[in-house]
Amino acid sequence: MRNNSDHAMFADATHDEQSAQSFIKTLRVFSSRSFHSGNNALLKKKVLPHYPDGECPPRREMRTALEDEPHNKWWSSMMRTTQEMLYDTVGPSIERQLPNLIERAKSMRGKSGSLTLDDSVEIPPYLSAVDMHCKPGSYQQEMIEDDVFAGAEFDRTFRLYSMGGLGPNLDDMGFTLVAWMRKHFQDAGASNNGPQRILDMGCTVGHSTLPYCDLFPDAEIHAIDVAATCLRYGHARAVAMDKEVHFSQQDAEHTNFEDGSFDLVVSHAIMHETSRRAIRAIFKECHRLLAPGGLMIHMDGITPDKPFDKYYSDWMSINNNEPYLGTVQDEDFVGICEQAGFDTDKVQLGEGEPQFQGKPTDDKPVYGYLVVCAEK
Ligand SMILES: C[S@@+](CC[C@H](N)C(=O)[O-])C[C@H]1O[C@@H](n2cnc3c(N)ncnc32)[C@H](O)[C@@H]1O
Repeated sequence: MRNNSDHAMFADATHDEQSAQSFIKTLRVFSSRSFHSGNNALLKKKVLPHYPDGECPPRREMRTALEDEPHNKWWSSMMRTTQEMLYDTVGPSIERQLPNLIERAKSMRGKSGSLTLDDSVEIPPYLSAVDMHCKPGSYQQEMIEDDVFAGAEFDRTFRLYSMGGLGPNLDDMGFTLVAWMRKHFQDAGASNNGPQRILDMGCTVGHSTLPYCDLFPDAEIHAIDVAATCLRYGHARAVAMDKEVHFSQQDAEHTNFEDGSFDLVVSHAIMHETSRRAIRAIFKECHRLLAPGGLMIHMDGITPDKPFDKYYSDWMSINNNEPYLGTVQDEDFVGICEQAGFDTDKVQLGEGEPQFQGKPTDDKPVYGYLVVCAEK
């Protein structure tokens, strides 16, 4: 399969395992590309004419219009089935190698950056209540001492899940966020030399964190997540890729960093996996963590103005175990920033331009990113 990573922590696959994984990815690409245009056509015929040009219909309306359509049922069944199949295919392959992966990860400790785990950190209910996007055990399940399973599995499944759209190292979101920031804030950060202390919230295994090491080589970079198994793997992966990041197990709603610790706090695809209550707590925590003049930038696949993408997110909230992904499309992000303590005239909503996905076509969806940015 194209697009595999070649770092020393990346799990192997036998010929047959690789072949099965490539098959799932190809089936997902086929299902989404061939049927995307059909679903779009149904929306255009059945729903959009009832709304003024450019207005995005409510989620429920699009769902009701499409759910009984045979075309959409086929697509829906394929997307759910291939999602389960990708975990069924990758999981046993990682389990087979787990003892070796754990030893490899341990051998990376103390080499660069740091790894600080804290087993008193509680897994928030919005993560523990479901197997997030059908990932068995979600991000945080621990099966064995020093477990790295969830992280190693994520490194392989995320490239299948995203159908190759995020680049070989799955770092599209990190590069996209910084490209957006540089376009809108030419002199962002400490003394205009760029941010000196950066925090990435909900880093999982650091796919989006590592671009910051290259783009801001003088900065001290921290990354947090609640999932220890992803952090163990993420730290080892960063060392294997020769990047220095300080990983720690912390809840983004209330971290142990001091007030004003950072001049850039970012997240990539975390907002939709939280909750209405948590997102407000996280934005408040960002306000506390920022130094005066610092920037908070959250980026996520939230597309409230694009009918098909919004329909797809709503579909995932119901059929792909991502409960908040529908509701988050309707959130008032400016209001949430204001409640968190930011001045509304220093809040910007924007759209990230994906760096690796290429151009959309009738058959090929390119999923957009909402950027929520606030300056303290
Ligand atoms: C979709 S993944 C993020 C992907 C990652 N940022 C990337 O770009 O590859 C969501 C992550 O957010 C983490 N997460 C969710 N809520 C959190 C919280 N309150 N504190 C810390 N991490 C959280 C989850 O454990 C999971 O690893």
